[in-house]
Amino acid sequence: MIELTREEAEAVVGLHAAHVVIYAKTNGTVLSGSSTKNIEQARALVMATIRFDGKIGFPGGFIDPGETWLEGVNRELREELDVDTSNDHLITDDHYVFSFLDKASGFCLHLYACEVTEEKFVDIERGAHDAEHYGFETLGVCRIPLHTSDKGTGLPSFLQHYFIGYAKEELLRALKHTGILSEEEIELAVKIARE
Ligand code: APR
Ligand code: MG
Ligand code: MG
Repeated sequence: MIELTREEAEAVVGLHAAHVVIYAKTNGTVLSGSSTKNIEQARALVMATIRFDGKIGFPGGFIDPGETWLEGVNRELREELDVDTSNDHLITDDHYVFSFLDKASGFCLHLYACEVTEEKFVDIERGAHDAEHYGFETLGVCRIPLHTSDKGTGLPSFLQHYFIGYAKEELLRALKHTGILSEEEIELAVKIARE
């Protein structure tokens, strides 16, 4: 993964793709251990997708020729999650996080992180089943556990799934960028996931 400045990324000739970490603040709780007594405040709702290839990723995809990054990523949200972005884009430049080059594929990838209300988040989850590409390209949407229990379950377990491309690195970057987790919390989860 080679991180690029926005200007460098804009100059890349070749395939571009953009993906989004959609998240919401919540007052909800989450089961954080094997006992029903292990209940924690959920830090946030963060959405991932289960892709056709069995890997974890984020909604988004390739930018078509002639499209801007924002047009492309908003279209992908329509196709993959049935979010109505035809008039109003859900994703704007305010949500831009970073760009990088995937040396293996040669693709230039862009990450956005978009905060929505909890109500909107649940709407998107429910609506995903009506998306054109649901069941074909997107096999499910899920919430990412963000706690690290004393047994190492939660985020460390989730990080052991297979992720598409650099989606795992994108997730960690988005969690840090948005302040959902502190650097220390992220480092601990990554360390336990490796053990
Ligand atoms: N982070 C980094 N890279 C990613 C991520 C991610 N979160 N998600 C996907 N990629 C990479 C993969 O290499 C992927 O093939 O970007 C490429 C394009 O992203 P997709 O979301 O797969 O593209 P999309 O336009 O939605 O799908 C179109 O392309 O992936 C193929 O055949 C597949 O039917 C699919 C078609
Ligand atoms: Mg797609
Ligand atoms: Mg896609």
